[in-house]
Amino acid sequence: MDHGMVCVTGASGFLASWLIKRLLLSGYHVIGTVRDPGNEAKLAHLWNLQGAKERLRLVKAELTEEGSFDDAIMGCAGVFHMASPVLGQFTDPREEIVNPAVNGTLNVLRSCKKNPSLRRVVLTSSSSTVRVKDNLDPQIPLDESSWSSVELCEKLKIWYVVSKTMAEKAAWEFCNKNGINLVTVIPSFVVGPSLPPTLCSTASDILGLLQGETERFYWHGRMGYVHIDDVALCHILVYEHEKAQGRYLCSSTVVDNDELVSILSTRYPTLPVPKRFEQHKRPYYEFNTTKIKSLGLNFKSIEEMFEDCITSLVAQGHLSIP
Ligand SMILES: NC(=O)c1ccc[n+]([C@@H]2O[C@H](COP(=O)([O-])OP(=O)(O)OC[C@H]3O[C@@H](n4cnc5c(N)ncnc54)[C@H](OP(=O)(O)O)[C@@H]3O)[C@@H](O)[C@H]2O)c1
Repeated sequence: MDHGMVCVTGASGFLASWLIKRLLLSGYHVIGTVRDPGNEAKLAHLWNLQGAKERLRLVKAELTEEGSFDDAIMGCAGVFHMASPVLGQFTDPREEIVNPAVNGTLNVLRSCKKNPSLRRVVLTSSSSTVRVKDNLDPQIPLDESSWSSVELCEKLKIWYVVSKTMAEKAAWEFCNKNGINLVTVIPSFVVGPSLPPTLCSTASDILGLLQGETERFYWHGRMGYVHIDDVALCHILVYEHEKAQGRYLCSSTVVDNDELVSILSTRYPTLPVPKRFEQHKRPYYEFNTTKIKSLGLNFKSIEEMFEDCITSLVAQGHLSIP
């Protein structure tokens, strides 16, 4: 079935590539934005997707260039805004991550405002915009009404969380003021197969854990996990569902590091997964995901997401299982 034309920003990324796969399979025409359309090696996995030759177009766009997304977005009924600088080492975090995320989101939304065909924008936020605050009550699962404290995140120097929280807040303000139909998806840590051959930051964190590294996961303490396919399906569901509105948490299960490595080392006894983590004082929390479940989404288990992830890491030559 022909579902019309939608734009996906940051098309070559881990999550966006999987979303494009799902959109093409559902019959959509997709315009993907990339920073470097000439980089064939980085984009080959997109051209190999079923339906890509007929219904995918890739165009150049850069978050920090005003008006850069105008052409890609004009004529599209839907925009999935996923492009955002992700975790890394920063010398000037405001310049390198916070401003591109916030101003880039507003740049994309200004292009949306110029497009008379626009029906809905789906913004990819992050569960980090919900769970970093002083007053967490372990008895009450966090839901979409919760916002991380930007002040606390700045104090803790967790610039990715600052960037995602400020970008989502700016998006809501702009869309409410300009009458744009916005829905946000709030995924926890995304796990699953990687279509891009080069691993993104989170996928390489998982590879590190499976190879025995503790440093990057140590900082997670307690974390929600979600299968990449569920996140892609969630984006399409909230785009298509007439009644979808507001924010949607998208997370299967929240576990402590120790629980996670116990599941993994039982299932993959020959991998050097750490046996346990040094205790990290992190508050207990759960996510209340009844809002997205009430639209019909069922989450895959932790076991399934890691199984699919590990199969893909092995197939791509990143990991070998002794
Ligand atoms: N992975 C997770 O666990 C997770 C969880 C929650 C939310 N998210 C969100 O999901 C989205 C995708 O993340 P991902 O994990 O798929 O990471 P990713 O593979 O690194 O994707 C990020 C994308 O953003 C693009 N981008 C970064 N800076 C840009 C700029 N200045 N102009 C244009 N494009 C730019 C990147 O383009 P290049 O390829 O050219 O660098 C890349 O395509 C992000 O919004 C992230 O915050 C991810």
